[in-house]
Amino acid sequence: MRTPVARILLTAALTAMVGIQVHQSTATAVPTATLSVDAGHTTARVNPYQFGHIVEDINHSVEGGLHANVVRNSTMKEGNANPPAYWSAVTAGGGSGSIAADTAGPLNAANPRSLRLSIGANGPGQRVGAANSGFYGIGVRPSTTYEVAFWARATAGFTGPLTVSLESTGGAVQATVAVSGLTTGWKRFTTSLTTTAGAPVSTGNRFVVAANGVGAGQSVWLTVVQALGPTFRPSGGIRRDLQQLLADTKPGFFRVPGGNYLEGVVLRNRFAWKDTVGPVEQRPGHQNDAWGYWSTDQFGLLNYLLMAEQAGAEPMLGVFAGYTLNGTVVPRDQLQPYIDEALDEIEYVIGGTDTVWGARRAADGHPEPFPLRYVEIGNEDFFDRSGSYNAYRYPMFADAIRARYPQLQLVASMPVTSRRPDVVDDHYYNSNPAAFADLATRYDNADRNGPKIVVGEYGVTNGTTGNPTGTLSGAIAEAAFLTGTVRNADLVIGSAYAPALTSVDNWQWSSNLVGFNAVSSYGSPSYHVVKMFGTLTGDHVVPSTLTGVAATVRQVVTRTTGGKVHVTVVNPTGTPVETQVDVTGATGVAGTATVTTLTGDPNGRNSINNPNAIAPTTTTRAAGASFAHTFPANSVVVLTLSTTGGATPLLPTGGVSLRSTTPGFTDRSVRHQNNLAVTSVVGSSSTAADKLDASFVLRPGLAGTGCYSFESRNAPGSYLRQSDYRVRLAVRDGSTGFASDATFCAVDGNSGQDFSFRSHAFPDRFLRHYANEVWIAANGGPLPSDAARSWTEDTTWRLGQSWWRSAVSVPTGNASLQATSAGVAGQSLRHADYVAALSPITAASSTTDKQDATFTVVAGLADASCYSFRSRNFPDRYLRHRDFRVRLDIGDGGAGFAADATFCAQPGNGGTGLSWQSYNYPSAYLRHYAGEVWIAGNGGSRASDNPANWSVDTTWQRAAPWAP
Ligand code: AHR
Repeated sequence: MRTPVARILLTAALTAMVGIQVHQSTATAVPTATLSVDAGHTTARVNPYQFGHIVEDINHSVEGGLHANVVRNSTMKEGNANPPAYWSAVTAGGGSGSIAADTAGPLNAANPRSLRLSIGANGPGQRVGAANSGFYGIGVRPSTTYEVAFWARATAGFTGPLTVSLESTGGAVQATVAVSGLTTGWKRFTTSLTTTAGAPVSTGNRFVVAANGVGAGQSVWLTVVQALGPTFRPSGGIRRDLQQLLADTKPGFFRVPGGNYLEGVVLRNRFAWKDTVGPVEQRPGHQNDAWGYWSTDQFGLLNYLLMAEQAGAEPMLGVFAGYTLNGTVVPRDQLQPYIDEALDEIEYVIGGTDTVWGARRAADGHPEPFPLRYVEIGNEDFFDRSGSYNAYRYPMFADAIRARYPQLQLVASMPVTSRRPDVVDDHYYNSNPAAFADLATRYDNADRNGPKIVVGEYGVTNGTTGNPTGTLSGAIAEAAFLTGTVRNADLVIGSAYAPALTSVDNWQWSSNLVGFNAVSSYGSPSYHVVKMFGTLTGDHVVPSTLTGVAATVRQVVTRTTGGKVHVTVVNPTGTPVETQVDVTGATGVAGTATVTTLTGDPNGRNSINNPNAIAPTTTTRAAGASFAHTFPANSVVVLTLSTTGGATPLLPTGGVSLRSTTPGFTDRSVRHQNNLAVTSVVGSSSTAADKLDASFVLRPGLAGTGCYSFESRNAPGSYLRQSDYRVRLAVRDGSTGFASDATFCAVDGNSGQDFSFRSHAFPDRFLRHYANEVWIAANGGPLPSDAARSWTEDTTWRLGQSWWRSAVSVPTGNASLQATSAGVAGQSLRHADYVAALSPITAASSTTDKQDATFTVVAGLADASCYSFRSRNFPDRYLRHRDFRVRLDIGDGGAGFAADATFCAQPGNGGTGLSWQSYNYPSAYLRHYAGEVWIAGNGGSRASDNPANWSVDTTWQRAAPWAP
């Protein structure tokens, strides 16, 4: 055992070595909140690409940002100005000369403009040159190297040399080098500049190409001028500090190249990827009209891909889909060239070197294909009011891409019905942190039978006119939202704050993740949140509850396979939360935890001059299976605990569907047909009979807890069971053999996502669909259904919502509904003045009262799998919620009314009886509260959401009707 002295020394050493403060922190007040963590179970898998970045050229993110070239208007085309914009003549010592844009004797068709330096007087000691002012200055640091390249030619007789330098705007030379050998024909020159050890860190610099005392009366032409400052890796030309900041967040994906930048305002200014690859001097560049500046396209498709690769991420490739920001929609009969352009683009990314575009990628220096899983078709196509995206653009692109690349997952930029996308891209922006934080529960009850979700852009937009990055309060709201995306990682495959980067000298978007100028950069509070989530999230979500706190305090808990448990708590309130943290399900919890805390002034923000005003701190504290911790006001905190023991998936019992995840079969669900389990296409428009056959009730395993059994929804008592390896629907016979055959143990999905189900009877076999039948199969075993091909995908299942949403069968016809809560137990739900209420109806009540408390239970107006309540004495009226209060209204035949008047029967929240889930607000249930009747969520924002007694107040008994 270590002595206290040794511990003090170790503490001091740790502090000195890694800058970590170590202290024993204890809560100062009696905990009012309880955070319970079940480290032995998992509820969802966190995706390797759960956190990513969107990178597009906005706010000079790329041109003047990620692209390390410090020379602005490299190709002399920007604004078509003469003399070229951002260039100026430099003379000294009595030298004279001028600069002008010139199109005579062009380098090539792509870059016909050059800068002509006309040299007048230029004797010994004199100077004539051209200076470039860079992107809001040029960043200089001491002993720093810039790789210079340019194309040049000169009039006959010019012998040079040219002097290339980096110097302050006041003329102090920081680096200089001579370049000789100009001829009358265009030649490419390369050299490097290294600043002196004493060069000050500064932005007030310029890049100069000059003829110092040489070449009087001559001319020199320059174009495609580059001076690349420090890059992240030797290839890619990616500015080091910016890429380092992004890479430090451990991103899983880069959504590239946009955003509006992908689309352009007009067709010719879309991201025409073929113009962005190959030798830079062959790239024409284009007006970035989405964001208002020139793009040389010297940072092109390959650079975006390299950026992902070098950060350890995958690209999520956006392809132009025939819609531009001015509302232009490419007509159906003119769309094919754009589809071909997208197919070629994908070939450039993943094609072998034996393909046309794969070979081109190899010629560009990257023979290996890039990993590509997701391709997004378009961007924010909900702005296209013509409906063309759903009508033909998405289907035409999707069909063509799927036909050629069936392994790819396709992302739709808005919900579509004409095809089933694999993923839909949701975007969220809001300038109000509190409103944004409400999105924390956005996906808790979202449809599990629809496409998965990527949040391709999100952010609290509360930057200011003087600072394009947001406040801590905005970052805390974003953290609250991220707890929801992680908790729902089975549905939400990833998220990206947008935009990722901004120049602090010129920006178009108010709030951004990382700010930079020509020489330095900083992360906003939002950046620190993204980094905390990216680096302190495990690979599985762990069940947790947090009670005794304001509803706005959010948490999510994850764990790594190795047992690190990350407890993330977001406290947006102005009050510290004293919390008892209880960890169960682990065989051991280490006595020390790491605490990463982001807190401070909620209105505080970072800036280029004060980059660390808001930054996380890391400390350690005493921990264990039970300890108290204070989560500060306005904070995001991650407690990292070391635990021992494994974890198994914990699935939600109740109504489910079992959906294939095999590409090409994702619209299929397991169903029973003639007592055999098969897969068939089931969707929201399927017949009620088909939906019923594809709906199961997930039960604790008949042969043992920790595993599961699937009971048929429409044949209670019948279960999916294996028999001779084929899966069938069979009536339970009570034997242990049946129980074992009908029990399946959930494990992580064999293909790397969702779940697989190991047979309890044959543990080497998994539930598999094969030729539209369902078997238990072993990889490469002797049966045809053991075929190894697609085995991992075929044995991986997504747990969807039950197609038949009501988990409980309720007899239709006249009935009454009675409360179960102490004090009002037995009171009936009735209408009075067309508003629902609780009332103590008895046999002695008046006929009218009895009729008011009697309803005819019918198939749900919005969905036959649920129910509606028709008034006994006003048969044109139904119970429906309006503003969450339950009323008796006349059906108007509309879909809105039908949804409001439909309730799905579920087992009682209090354990017995029935609860009635709102059809269109699945987290809300029919509840009596203070004698009134509402639909209420547990702990929501209305008084009727009061968590006290919520479970029992939402539990009802179906009873005999008071009136016949
Ligand atoms: O992130 C900034 C812009 O917001 C994106 O370019 C666009 O997709 C969205 O409207």
